[in-house]
Amino acid sequence: MTPVFLVTGAAGFIGSHSVEWLLRHGWRVVGVDNLRTGRLDNLADARSSPNFTLVIADAGDETAMRPLFQQHRFTGMLHLAALVSVPESFREPELNYRLNLATADTLARLCLEFECKRLVFASSAAVYGANAALPNRESALPQPLSPYAAAKLAAEVMLLGYAASYGLEAVCLRYFNVYGPRQDPGSPYSGVLSIFTDRFQRGLPVTVYGDGEQTRDFISVRDVAEYNGQALTRQDVVVGRYNVCTGHAISLKQVLAIYRELFPNAPPTEFASGRIGDIRHSLGDPALLREMLQFSAQTEFAQGLRELNAG
Ligand code: UD1
Repeated sequence: MTPVFLVTGAAGFIGSHSVEWLLRHGWRVVGVDNLRTGRLDNLADARSSPNFTLVIADAGDETAMRPLFQQHRFTGMLHLAALVSVPESFREPELNYRLNLATADTLARLCLEFECKRLVFASSAAVYGANAALPNRESALPQPLSPYAAAKLAAEVMLLGYAASYGLEAVCLRYFNVYGPRQDPGSPYSGVLSIFTDRFQRGLPVTVYGDGEQTRDFISVRDVAEYNGQALTRQDVVVGRYNVCTGHAISLKQVLAIYRELFPNAPPTEFASGRIGDIRHSLGDPALLREMLQFSAQTEFAQGLRELNAG
């Protein structure tokens, strides 16, 4: 029997790419999504595969999830379902607690009960806060600055505690700024590249908050799907927390120079004052995950951005 993997948040941006990676590599996948922020369209390709089953359910609903664990005897789980908006976590701390912490705990206990050994958890670079030394290393003291980051960090701690207590193979992946096809540009707090792509394609001006010299470590969702897939399916994975990043910082000005080549007739960029709480520089050290998986992010940034805008 081919092993079956569970992916929560399967219809989301990172989820749908991760499901496709697993199917491409010959695995069977059960995807769970409540479609709160995920979209069925994202799974159009996956759903044509006989190896994929989609279940519309809340990943934190133990009564809905238990029968799935019973039926499929998952080999591993990729837990991506989350409240993804940091501003929303400020407005709805209770919902944030439920979706970003309690759900991880429920699922981890189901993993233990049904011998689903591996749990790969979607954490975030947000756990580092603004003051950790750059590049961020996993050994830095985390300083969450939002309910979102606090819940992600607390979930990491729970999962690593279960790893130490019961042998759960918990792998916490701290994503930096992920970009690529299917990222929703719908809110002002959506990923900057999803907003820029949407606006350049529609011939609208983009707004830069601040002077444009702020930098980010942007990683392509294709590379993130590869990291997720490998962390989930490889035998030789070590319990812990790992940055998922490229180790390269790019400023918004550099990003805009690439867009200008792609859209030479676009209207001029507008500048507005910097966002409250904005981090000036964000950069991760990818060494730990690279050493464990013998793999580095493959997509060079300008190439990834061109592909995003071509597609
Ligand atoms: C990311 C999270 C954010 C979280 C922060 C803290 C995403 C999409 N956002 O923010 O929720 O609080 O980490 O770790 O992952 N920008 C513009 N114009 C725009 C949109 C954004 O200039 O139209 C700027 C922002 O002010 C920021 C940069 O672009 O300086 C990147 O913004 P964003 O994509 O939201 O990511 P983070 O700021 O890293």
